[in-house]
Amino acid sequence: MLNNRGFPKKPANLEEEIEEDIPVAVRDTPDTKRPSKWKPVLLVVSLLGCGAIAISLILSGSTRKPISSPEPTTTASSTPSSSDTTDTNNLLGHLPYEEAPPSELKPITPDGKLKLRTAAAEKFKAMLAAARADGVILIPISGFRSVQDQQHLFFDIKAQRGQVATKRAEVSAPPGYSEHHTGYAVDIGDSRTPATNLSPSFAQTAAFKWLEKNAAHYSFELSFPPGNPQGVNYEPWHWRFVGDSHSLETFYKAHNLIDRTTNESPTPSPSPSN
Ligand code: DAL
Ligand code: ZN
Repeated sequence: MLNNRGFPKKPANLEEEIEEDIPVAVRDTPDTKRPSKWKPVLLVVSLLGCGAIAISLILSGSTRKPISSPEPTTTASSTPSSSDTTDTNNLLGHLPYEEAPPSELKPITPDGKLKLRTAAAEKFKAMLAAARADGVILIPISGFRSVQDQQHLFFDIKAQRGQVATKRAEVSAPPGYSEHHTGYAVDIGDSRTPATNLSPSFAQTAAFKWLEKNAAHYSFELSFPPGNPQGVNYEPWHWRFVGDSHSLETFYKAHNLIDRTTNESPTPSPSPSN
């Protein structure tokens, strides 16, 4: 197309040029500058979409469980009574423990035969002194035990008594599964009533009553109260130290025990050699 001076007419812009190259009949391409009737619809749809996403995020946030308190998963257990420990590595209701290294052990008796881990040994001796000041003489009966010691206690005594494994496990842990391996567990007696040593009748002694009231001040707790989730018989003489991170993790974090108050009490029975 020529302009009025005889030169080819220059398009005002590129769009005009393109438009000029397209036959009029097919010049129906949507003009981006032209207001579209779909724009308001798209705007409303996207606003509704954003609203829906925001609401679902708020709702999911309010119902999400905190990461720090995972739901305990219950697992079937092979213990004779109802064992609700969530640790699938349990053996007859007992949990696996590593032996404390000898360098970590300190004597708790003058002859040095009974030992506990350093932190537990110090608190234990302080507890003994406090009990003595109150007129109660606590006697340590057993402290750290190696896997080999436990081998004898579990298998030899089981054979001597003609017990089946499940029965023996009600009062004694298989080797590798005793709290005594950790160096944090101690069996305690009352000097005035040696006949109650390692017996449920220890629960009636002045020593036990003193421990019930005061042991927590020294970070000792009863490992196997009546109805414990491991299904182990009530052991009023067996206490464990949970006074530092390592001991606490040893007994709680690794095994993720569930609430121990939910089970009914097993019938206590005499259980020497625990
Ligand atoms: N007497 C308890 C069960 C232990 O050896 O851990
Ligand atoms: Zn014990």
